Order: sequence, then C-alpha cells, then structure tokens
Amino acid sequence: METLTGKIAAVTGGTRGIGRAICERLLREGARVALCGRLQASVDNAVREMAHPGRVQGLAADVRKLQDVRRFFGWVEEQFGGLDILVNNAGEGVFRRVGEMTAEEWHRNIDLNLNGAYYCAHEALALFARRGGGFIVNISSLAGKNAFSGGAAYNASKFGLNGFSEALMLDHRYDNVRVASIMPGSVNTEFGRDATGADWKIQPEDVAEVAAMVLRMPARTMVSRVEIRPSQPKK
Ligand SMILES: NC(=O)c1ccc[n+]([C@@H]2O[C@H](COP(=O)([O-])OP(=O)(O)OC[C@H]3O[C@@H](n4cnc5c(N)ncnc54)[C@H](OP(=O)(O)O)[C@@H]3O)[C@@H](O)[C@H]2O)c1
Repeated sequence: METLTGKIAAVTGGTRGIGRAICERLLREGARVALCGRLQASVDNAVREMAHPGRVQGLAADVRKLQDVRRFFGWVEEQFGGLDILVNNAGEGVFRRVGEMTAEEWHRNIDLNLNGAYYCAHEALALFARRGGGFIVNISSLAGKNAFSGGAAYNASKFGLNGFSEALMLDHRYDNVRVASIMPGSVNTEFGRDATGADWKIQPEDVAEVAAMVLRMPARTMVSRVEIRPSQPKK
C-alpha cells in the first residue's frame, strides 16, 4: 500500500458529514488537507476543531459556482504548492416527485452534485498535470444505480456522476490520474437523517475508511467503483 503522508488533498464539503470524516481520516494518514464549504464561518470552525494547525486549511467556496471553484483551486495551489488528491464530496438531495419539482430545485441538485464535480475535476486536472498525476474520488451513491420514486433529481445527478467518473478515468488514466467512485447507501449524517433512526446506518467514518483504502492502493491498481451498504437496513 502507498502512504498518504505529505500528500495534498482537497475535499469539497469538508465541514460536516462524510466530507468531514474523510478530512479527519486523511489527516490521520499524514496528508495535508484543503477543504471548502459554503460559509467561511463553518469552514473556519471545522478547521479549528480538526486541530492540525498548518496541515488543514479551508476557504469558503460554493462548488456550483465556477468562479468560486477557480478561486478555491488557485488558493490551494498558493497555500499548499500543488494538489495530489481531489475528493468531490459536496452534495445534497432534492427529493420531490417530478410533477411537483420546480426547475430551480432540479437545477440546484444537478448544479451541485454533477456540474460542481466537473468544475472541480477540471481545475484539479490542471494542477495534477504539473505534478505528473493525481487521484479523484467522487462520492456518488447507491442512488446512482437504484432509482426510487421522489429521487429523480438526485438519481439523475448520481447516475450522471457515475458516468462522468468512468469517462474521466478513461480520458486521463494514461496521464497517471486515477478515479474512484464511492457509492454508499444510507449514511448517518444530517443529509441522511430520517425517522428510521441511525443505529442501522453506515457511519461517515466507514466511508472515510474506504476512501483511505482506495487512495492507498499501489499506483498500478485502481479501485474504480465501490458500493457500500448497511449490513442490515431497517425493514
Ligand atoms: N448521507 C447519506 O446517506 C449519503 C448516502 C450516499 C451518498 N451520500 C453523498 O455523500 C456526500 C456528502 O453527504 P453528507 O451525507 O455528508 O451530507 P451533509 O452532512 O449534508 O454534508 C454536506 C457537505 O457539503 C457541503 N456543501 C453543501 N452544499 C455545498 C456547496 N454548494 N458548495 C460547497 N459545499 C457544499 C456542506 O457544507 P456547508 O453546508 O457548510 O456548505 C457539507 O460540508 C454527498 O455527495 C451525498 O450525496 C450521502
């Protein structure tokens, strides 16, 4: 397995939930971490709580906005001197039947979960090119292969993200860029909170463990897609 010590990672949506757990896991592996979320106050709070001064820093960026994404990656290069790993994690779910969903809701979900991932990947590839390669981990979902009623926007975004991940991998594998799509089922985060409770769900740390395992594979090997599901989902 490769070491992540000294690697520079950018994690979108690192202020809470799965992204936060991935930041903390990467820090434990010795990586340096740049994170974003929409509000500087919550970014600063997350950075402070992670308590690795110098090794973790954050800048507010809304990944739906191309100018924010460009500013974020420019800042990463300035602060950290390059980039080795991008984790496209920021995401949300709009859960409405198509007939009741507004165009604004549709665009909001696709803009974040799919367009944002493209914007970030595009900027990251330019930084990877200067270092001779890199790794992109896209946090997708089992909703990227299983459609459900009320999930049209979220399903479309995650089905799309899986297709994007695969094509991205085929486009750039010979540039030493590896791409992995991680597809969790229900995870115990604010996003995943519902009336069924949390005891049966995947914990964010479990997804982070899988992300670290995928990232630590030897350069010759690429884990391109992983499904993670609760062992015993609520019946
Ligand atoms: N929880 C689940 O059951 C589950 C299952 C499968 C896949 N996933 C996927 O896992 C990823 C993370 O989900 P989560 O459950 O950890 O959600 P979460 O707890 O709601 O966290 C979402 C993170 O994304 C950030 N974020 C939201 N909108 C953003 C934007 N426009 N620009 C930048 N950052 C933004 C949030 O920060 P701010 O609010 O500070 O901006 C927060 O850090 C998502 O892609 C989701 O689709 C989740």
